[in-house]
Amino acid sequence: MILSTRQFGFSYPAWVEFGCGISQRVHEKAASLKRRKAIVVSDPGIARAGLLEPIMASLEGAGLRATLFTGVEPDPCGEVCDGVAALARGNCDDTFFVAVGGGSVIDTVKAAVVVAAHGGSAIDYRRGGRKIEKSCPPYIAIPTTAGTGAEVSPYAVISDPSRKKKVVLEGPQLWPRFALLDPELTLGLPPRVTAETGMDALTNVIEAYTSTGTDPFAQALALKGTAMIGQWLRKAVAQPQNLEARSNMLVASMFGGLCFDYAGLGAVHACSHPLGAHFAVSHGLATAIMLPAVMEFNLMACPELYRDIAAALGVDIAGMDLFAAAEAAPLAVRRLIGDLGLPRTLQELNIPEEDLPLLARESMEEKANLCTNPRVPDEAQMLSIFYRAYYGAAGRE
Ligand SMILES: [Fe+2]
Repeated sequence: MILSTRQFGFSYPAWVEFGCGISQRVHEKAASLKRRKAIVVSDPGIARAGLLEPIMASLEGAGLRATLFTGVEPDPCGEVCDGVAALARGNCDDTFFVAVGGGSVIDTVKAAVVVAAHGGSAIDYRRGGRKIEKSCPPYIAIPTTAGTGAEVSPYAVISDPSRKKKVVLEGPQLWPRFALLDPELTLGLPPRVTAETGMDALTNVIEAYTSTGTDPFAQALALKGTAMIGQWLRKAVAQPQNLEARSNMLVASMFGGLCFDYAGLGAVHACSHPLGAHFAVSHGLATAIMLPAVMEFNLMACPELYRDIAAALGVDIAGMDLFAAAEAAPLAVRRLIGDLGLPRTLQELNIPEEDLPLLARESMEEKANLCTNPRVPDEAQMLSIFYRAYYGAAGRE
């Protein structure tokens, strides 16, 4: 691990609690919010899985008025967030939200609390747009996937379908008041979703570890998270009911959210947004395919860090020289993706090769993620990263 010489500091405004069954005690946390109306937000799959009844029962049993909305779709657009915000209309000061779901649900609630407090539409509050300046209704985040780390971050990514873009909302008002990590909620997650979201978690920790904005606090979480994912993601996919695997993945993904809050991310996230916006590739799958290609591009900038990652992923680096050990990191990621049964290339997703220049150009616009990548690509280099992800390890050469 490299210790930064830059100044750094940290504070964390949310209370995070982990434990089996903890989501059924949500009313205990809700009591401290001193509000009487709860809006529980989720998606149709979670509703069908029966995860919401105990949470609703917990809130209603404590005498709270609870309204349920289960209409969040993957990659939520601004209109859905606006619709959720409207549920609090006229009663904003007495309302709190409970987000039960993956990144899409939690991000919907983050955008909704902003709109509930400020009016307008969620898209208006994208980075560089209208300011988020008022205090917003509080929310409790209950993740049902181990991936985005959205339950511990002050960012929301939402879709702007009219411009085929993903936009980011950001501000301290987007922190949850509580994050309740209940691994039992993730036991029913299908293997494919487990694999894709798990690869997002891995990308979060690897990009935070190698970010130019990293610091020892973020690196400690990132390296531990990398090791946990390397050890447990395969088991979570192979044995969906393995509570130990689910628990480790849930904690590792929370580490990912925490460390990228402080350290920032990198080029994989820059590439994943246009892939989602143009071709509806899930965020997790986009990160899985782009991650090894970006790591191979970045390697020469910080081989020591990639050597650490290789070791954390279980590679025996004893006797390897620095670059051989560093190169083992993307190889280990490629092997993991293969074991998980995920597509390995953009070609397999039927993304037209002639659209790679468009994807490269739009990825270059993702400055907030690119600026902390350890090797900043120009557009031609970005295109070569996309060709590498399109054809697989060897790229087009
Ligand atoms: Fe991510």
